[in-house]
Amino acid sequence: MGEEVKNKQVILNDYVKASVKESDMSLRTSTIQLRIPAGCDDAVLVKNLYLSCDPYMLLRMKKLEVDSFQPNSPISGFGVSKVIDSSHPNYTKGDLVWGITGWEEYSLIRDQSGLFKIHDTDLPLSYYTGILGMPGMTAYAGFFEVCSAKKGETVYVSAASGAVGQLVGQFAKSTGCYVVGSAGSKEKVDLLKNKFGFDDAFNYKEEQDYNAALKRYFPDGIDIYFENVGGKMLEAVLNNMRLHGRVAVCGMISQYGLEQPEGVHNLFNLIAKRIRMQGFAVHDYYHLYPKFLEMVVPQIKERKITYVEDIAEGLESAPNALVGLFSGRNVGKQVVVVARE
Ligand SMILES: NC(=O)c1ccc[n+]([C@@H]2O[C@H](COP(=O)([O-])OP(=O)(O)OC[C@H]3O[C@@H](n4cnc5c(N)ncnc54)[C@H](OP(=O)(O)O)[C@@H]3O)[C@@H](O)[C@H]2O)c1
Repeated sequence: MGEEVKNKQVILNDYVKASVKESDMSLRTSTIQLRIPAGCDDAVLVKNLYLSCDPYMLLRMKKLEVDSFQPNSPISGFGVSKVIDSSHPNYTKGDLVWGITGWEEYSLIRDQSGLFKIHDTDLPLSYYTGILGMPGMTAYAGFFEVCSAKKGETVYVSAASGAVGQLVGQFAKSTGCYVVGSAGSKEKVDLLKNKFGFDDAFNYKEEQDYNAALKRYFPDGIDIYFENVGGKMLEAVLNNMRLHGRVAVCGMISQYGLEQPEGVHNLFNLIAKRIRMQGFAVHDYYHLYPKFLEMVVPQIKERKITYVEDIAEGLESAPNALVGLFSGRNVGKQVVVVARE
């Protein structure tokens, strides 16, 4: 028998109907044995170090997706963890991993197919919740595999200062594109222009008319839209797309908290302008993860690419940090530190 310790957890109280509030979650302390239970093959027991707050988690809090969270149970998400015990031949005590884990201090992971071993520990471990993890792969797959961008094309990114958007902008610049981003505060607009190297940026919350704003930044139209928000912004973008434009549909965060999603009323633009609008899901692209690391790790080390994180301290702060995504309180990738080692 391993040592039994307390295990703080973040519990979903009940399914969420519209947007998520802190009171939809609670903290509970249970106990866990620091040893894989007898007969539990191919499992890993981990200590969670960093947890990732991601917009899709709201969808899992609703009774919408096949893999909805279960009320009265700990929620789960991407994180960085240290292996304490393993009954799987590929993992041993002390290994560092990133992937799906529980929102708790320790997790017994029975299905380790969603885990990646961390080999490069020269960079901050928290990066494996962001630039070196799922959001980084999303930006890479969305921009390089879905957008088919060429030098000289015009690119628009919404939610541009976030976990995914800040990278898409930098990838677009390194490809030789003209890139404009939108975000929800002056601080974020300054980051886009001065830190991430976007050619221009605007605060969408200060714009009365998205159509007019996009015309100002793209007088000759948009070749590529990296879609993170949906709703009225998508409609305005479709009006401003160029012939043979591409829309990479990554996410629609403005719709996740609505009981009834908004409609898009100008899809005829797809025909008139021969636009290719393609949704994508990052998990279809994980076979490219080694290739992605080969590209991005040297660029981080040579400071050719930069990444901004918003760090919340302690598992207790996790519900508040997650809720903050939906009002734009996070500046950069929202990470929760559970333990540093
Ligand atoms: N397809 C995939 O496989 C995949 C994978 C990962 C992420 N995604 C999607 O990618 C998008 C960005 O994710 P992320 O992790 O990078 O999140 P993030 O940008 O780091 O955080 C979310 C941001 O969205 C903005 N936002 C919130 N509510 C909004 C609204 N009503 N209208 C416009 N903007 C709003 C806020 O920034 P502002 O201050 O700018 O409003 C907020 O900071 C999300 O839609 C997510 O679901 C998709």
